[in-house]
Amino acid sequence: MKRPVGVLISGRGSNLGALLAAARAPDYPARIALVLSNRADAPGLALAADAGVPARVIAHREFGADRAAHEAALDGALRAAGVEIVCLAGYMRRLTPFLVGAWAGRMLNIHPSLLPAFPGLETHARALAAGVRLHGCTVHLVTEGVDEGPILAQAAVPVLPGDTEATLAARVLAQEHRIYPAALAALASGVAGPAADGAAALANPLPGAASAA
Ligand code: GAR
Repeated sequence: MKRPVGVLISGRGSNLGALLAAARAPDYPARIALVLSNRADAPGLALAADAGVPARVIAHREFGADRAAHEAALDGALRAAGVEIVCLAGYMRRLTPFLVGAWAGRMLNIHPSLLPAFPGLETHARALAAGVRLHGCTVHLVTEGVDEGPILAQAAVPVLPGDTEATLAARVLAQEHRIYPAALAALASGVAGPAADGAAALANPLPGAASAA
């Protein structure tokens, strides 16, 4: 049985695209049941439409400063669709403890750095400025801190001479598209999950975690 997943986006949606593509495989343990965007102009919405997946805009602007009401609307839509696991895929809103707590252990985020290095925004520019030789991406369970939480998967890429923010971002993004479907498969199939001590049950589900269940 494929477990129903809700994906939250704000923009381009390339990670959503990677999840949709992976979920097409008959033996993938999850299916994308709902896509929610906080922005009506998110290009990723078209990917959901192309895949025949229900998509809704729940615009934060319509709720003004009332974050709780916006999150209650998101939560209601996810539950109405029977969602069991939530994937943040370029969802660029900070979550309150309400939504984080409601989906504790069942909400994943992808972040374009090797956490705990470079949480927050402009990770590629900061990696270049810091002179690191390795950069990458992380999939983690969502907890209350920004870009914090037990790590399920990471992939590292070299920072090469002459790299610009764009070239480095593209190298990292290709890895995001590999590890997000793998980490979701691991969580959906029970290979990885929240451990009692707060550490990830599996340090890195690559490669082949989906088939290990
Ligand atoms: C991705 O690089 C993702 O890792 C990042 O936003 C981009 C969304 O791209 N997320 C964060 O920075 C979250 N802290 P996409 O819309 O093409 O998937």
